[in-house]
Amino acid sequence: MKFFIDTANLSDIAEAQALGVLDGVTTNPSLMAKEGIIGSEAILGHYKKICELVEGDVSAEVISTDFEGMIKEGEALAALHPQIVVKLPMIANGVKACKYFTDKGIRTNVTLVFSAGQALLAAKAGATYVSPFLGRLDDISTDGLNLISEIRLIYDNYGFETQILAASIRNTIHVINCAKIGSDVMTGPLLSITGLLKHPLTDSGLAKFLEDYKKGNG
Ligand code: E4P
Repeated sequence: MKFFIDTANLSDIAEAQALGVLDGVTTNPSLMAKEGIIGSEAILGHYKKICELVEGDVSAEVISTDFEGMIKEGEALAALHPQIVVKLPMIANGVKACKYFTDKGIRTNVTLVFSAGQALLAAKAGATYVSPFLGRLDDISTDGLNLISEIRLIYDNYGFETQILAASIRNTIHVINCAKIGSDVMTGPLLSITGLLKHPLTDSGLAKFLEDYKKGNG
């Protein structure tokens, strides 16, 4: 399973990259605003910085909701850096734009996916990634994991190559459950990745090993 970090915070991205297990980054307009990245020049510059920090795919989301606007924005984003994946919302114009970019060989991530039908449409439009929002479904007492299982089944039935990018991951349990059901990618905050390191028996076991070593070796 690929690990993406879901943030526009450069130090979190650098920390995940330093761990050696990072495969890419996802951003969205809310995450960019949270870092105070405002205005198209600053936004494009920030995407470039992210691409220079990591080796993998970097999802950059369009703001337009009309077809022409999405194409113009998406083409500018894709031209920015070869690692950029154009992120498009799951609306009719987003599906049309996805098909357009697929035909042009530009990679896409269809976002804000909350149903198996939406995921099927994204795959038919040739999306590179589809992003079902696990945490936001859980937030409204709906089983987000079940949606990912449904998409896995549908994609496997027909051999769709679209990768399932489990998004809106909130914790390590989400990560593990997504891995169990065969999600291709997960994207979550830094803690959902570094939290996987933690186990009290690892900490106490290591402390004991070091203590015993010191006893024998001074
Ligand atoms: C996905 O690409 C989104 O950026 C993200 O995962 C949304 O997560 P949230 O529901 O925690 O905002």
